[in-house]
Amino acid sequence: MQIIKLDAIDSTNLYLKDLSREQSLEDFTVVVANVQHQGRGQMGSNWNSEGGKNLTFSVLKKFQQLALDKHFTISICTALAIYDSLMYLKIPDLKVKWPNDIMSGNTKICGILVENRIEAQFIKASILGIGLNVNQTIFSNLKNAGSLKSITGNAFDLEDLLQRIVDNLKHYFQVLSATGSEQLRQDYELALYRLNSHTKFKLNDGNHLNGIIRGVSKQGKLQVENEEGELKEYGLKQLTLVY
Ligand code: BTN
Repeated sequence: MQIIKLDAIDSTNLYLKDLSREQSLEDFTVVVANVQHQGRGQMGSNWNSEGGKNLTFSVLKKFQQLALDKHFTISICTALAIYDSLMYLKIPDLKVKWPNDIMSGNTKICGILVENRIEAQFIKASILGIGLNVNQTIFSNLKNAGSLKSITGNAFDLEDLLQRIVDNLKHYFQVLSATGSEQLRQDYELALYRLNSHTKFKLNDGNHLNGIIRGVSKQGKLQVENEEGELKEYGLKQLTLVY
């Protein structure tokens, strides 16, 4: 694999995005950093990670032309690749928390930030940014965060794990182009955190919603059954799950 190893950088997503604009890169080019000074998270948040102990990396995925309404399949492939890699390590009670977190029980161990390059109404490339907490054990001020080590008591080899995740990414994107997204969407649903469980959400208008997560639509919307038994779909910015 084409891999660029950096000691320190602001953000591997930003670095790879800029580099891919300047030169032609291979599909699945990886940029991995020991330390990120301005790691970016979902919805404009920061991603903080102790240097040298975790995986903070970005992978370039190129597409001929992927329709915009298929954007969520990118998150699905990425989440399943990480999920399988962690299953192999026997990390307990793994789940995918919609849209883009990997959980062990109620602890978030990994976040994914997908950033797309769009041209003429098609996705031409994505930067798959992955922050996986591996050997860090202190998470001050971060409620619900943990690592593979804080969960299992064992330390893990960062390079082996990176290689496994990239191999699994190649596998899932190959499945996507060979067989389409439907089976992958169903696999993602089966791994969903709090699937078929009563769950409390905060809506973007400040109200709360009690409902049961029933699945994810083809467009990546979360399907929630409300207390009246109606199934409603919610997009990324419409609700957050309350722990
Ligand atoms: C989240 O908010 O859960 C997503 C976090 C994604 C963090 C990763 S670390 C590597 C890559 N570079 C970044 O700046 N962010 C992503």
